[in-house]
Amino acid sequence: MEKNENESKIKLIVFEFFSGIGGMHESLNKITNIKIEKIIPYDININSNLTYKFNFNIEPKSITIESLTLENYEKIIEENYKNVNNKNNLFILWTMSPPCQPFTRQGNKKELEDNRSIAFKHLMNILNKTKYFPNYFILENVKNFENSKASAMLIELFNNKKYDFLQFLLSPLQFNIPNSRLRYYFIGREKKFLNFKNNRNDIINNTELIDKNFPISCIIDIKTFLSYNENDEKNKKEFYLTEKILNKESSKSMDLTLLESKSSNCFTKNYTRLIKGSGSILLLNKEKYNNMELKSLKGYTRFFTPKEILKFLCFNDNFEFPENLSNKSQYKLLGNSLNVKVVFELMKLLFNN
Ligand SMILES: C[S@@+](CC[C@H](N)C(=O)[O-])C[C@H]1O[C@@H](n2cnc3c(N)ncnc32)[C@H](O)[C@@H]1O
Repeated sequence: MEKNENESKIKLIVFEFFSGIGGMHESLNKITNIKIEKIIPYDININSNLTYKFNFNIEPKSITIESLTLENYEKIIEENYKNVNNKNNLFILWTMSPPCQPFTRQGNKKELEDNRSIAFKHLMNILNKTKYFPNYFILENVKNFENSKASAMLIELFNNKKYDFLQFLLSPLQFNIPNSRLRYYFIGREKKFLNFKNNRNDIINNTELIDKNFPISCIIDIKTFLSYNENDEKNKKEFYLTEKILNKESSKSMDLTLLESKSSNCFTKNYTRLIKGSGSILLLNKEKYNNMELKSLKGYTRFFTPKEILKFLCFNDNFEFPENLSNKSQYKLLGNSLNVKVVFELMKLLFNN
């Protein structure tokens, strides 16, 4: 019985480009109708790669993506293909979260002209030439990517190949997670997405199409979501805002959120380094919420811990950072990562018949 079940699964050779701490891998692990035959993560960041190895026991390829040649890419596929005995249902998946700075509203808006887009352009070039165009594809990026030449390039490739694709702008809040992280997603595959009659250039910004039965509007509060335990608070003193921070001019515009709140702001890679716009700060006493005197918040305000942010991003409870990685490094990696639940919902759609 188990053997048949395995044989009906979609078998995958996965290229996880810009793998970071492995948000894409984490989401794939939750999909039940696939079997990962081989996953090859690529990233140049040492701390991401250490964290990836720590959790998935796979060492990402620490080379710049632009140094992967078309010949190497095709050779990797052929070698891995040989290693799979039963080649029925064996497919290629590409996942990618290219650097988003060239596309952010606050950034230089150089898009494809930005050096940080070299790797993305290189991958589009491989896609254009390869005989192994991936059967499945998923990309995550910031809002605004949808208006860039990069997304136009991607769409043109998929149109030329006569592959189907869908585009989304979604936030975890729409999936009942009390955290906002509006992101652009592109999913593409050989087979038509059934029941999707919208124009492919439209950006889908609701969850109706993902799962008609999705229970909308029952976001739970942060306290319940994080399974908050008051007794743990004594172990979190290092995350409390100091008087020095509270006295800063920028602290006047910090976003305070309560345990009873049903939302928090997006946590960026600058969380704790910058106060304004980098993510919410937890206020532990709701009576203080309207108190304008910031100094009086000392002892009641703290940063969310990396573990709590992992939870907002819906990583498994057993996901951990290597012991010697500083909190600052952990926040940086988390800010670059993705919401696993949202990607999981999109992957379900991608692998659905
Ligand atoms: C937006 S983050 C992706 C994070 C990932 N999705 C996760 O779950 O953590 C982009 C990643 O691409 C990596 N990167 C950027 N340029 C690269 C390049 N040219 N070659 C390889 N990796 C690169 C960065 O080190 C960073 O970890």
